[in-house]
Amino acid sequence: MQAKVVIVGSLNMDLVTRAPRLPKAGETLAGQSFVTVPGGKGANQAVAAARLGASVAMIGCVGSDAYGDELRSALLAEGIDCQAVTRIEGESTGVALIVVDDSSQNAIVIVAGGNGHVTSAVVDGFDTLLSQADVIICQLEIPMATVGHVLKRGRELGKTVILNPAPASGPLPAEWYGWIDYLIPNESEATALTGLPVDSVGSADAAATALMKAGVRKVIVTLGEQGALFASQARSQHFPAPKVQPVDTTAAGDTFVGGFAAALAEGKSESDAIRFGQIAAALSVTRSGAQPSIPTVVDVQSYQP
Ligand code: RIB
Repeated sequence: MQAKVVIVGSLNMDLVTRAPRLPKAGETLAGQSFVTVPGGKGANQAVAAARLGASVAMIGCVGSDAYGDELRSALLAEGIDCQAVTRIEGESTGVALIVVDDSSQNAIVIVAGGNGHVTSAVVDGFDTLLSQADVIICQLEIPMATVGHVLKRGRELGKTVILNPAPASGPLPAEWYGWIDYLIPNESEATALTGLPVDSVGSADAAATALMKAGVRKVIVTLGEQGALFASQARSQHFPAPKVQPVDTTAAGDTFVGGFAAALAEGKSESDAIRFGQIAAALSVTRSGAQPSIPTVVDVQSYQP
């Protein structure tokens, strides 16, 4: 039987413009293209975990508009259990306004829409899904109170609990740390969580140490082309990134989280799960868009450095 990953998180329609560079405040720039693409950190991680080998269920909310129907269909097409993707009448679906520049960097503004309706009560209605999970994943594009509720419930149920603290604007509530098995921030999120500047393997290690002192069991700081820093009480290890030619970094972090979770749930060692997630994330940056860029198990297995 496939291991089960349950994601409690966001679904967004990404409105993506390509432009030569990111606009400055007050500036109007001519873009080169515009597309709408299924995204949202929660949904991206669900798609990644499914394409990368796990049986996946998603708990989230969409609005009662065409975007909501499209996002749900996109997840169903991946074989993801969407019984807990709830449609909120009279609400809009979450959107992300994304600009990608010629150097493949992006800037994103999100509007929560349906994602703001993912309350603890909604999640409690699907407690059976949580109790059937091997791994539970949350991010921060749904209400913070709900995230805390899910982390706590995941710990009570004895599940492997992963938090991708994205987007993060400051420290997390102190009581959360003891409920998390794997905290997976990127550089800017690790900085927001700890107040320590994180831009290198050494500074990521310092931030991970601070987060473990706060109570997290294990930390993986993703560092883009500098790789990832894994830290536990027992060891700290740098994993260099596979080298690729980047096209669009959107959802690279989500692909890492989903791939890592799928591999861990399947029984791979932490180190192998990190390497597997890294290859998947590296492949995702060679393609445009959020969900369309996420590779399959076969893509990862046929990757040649
Ligand atoms: O992590 C990438 C995602 O962030 C995008 O798909 C967008 O929806 C925002 O949530």
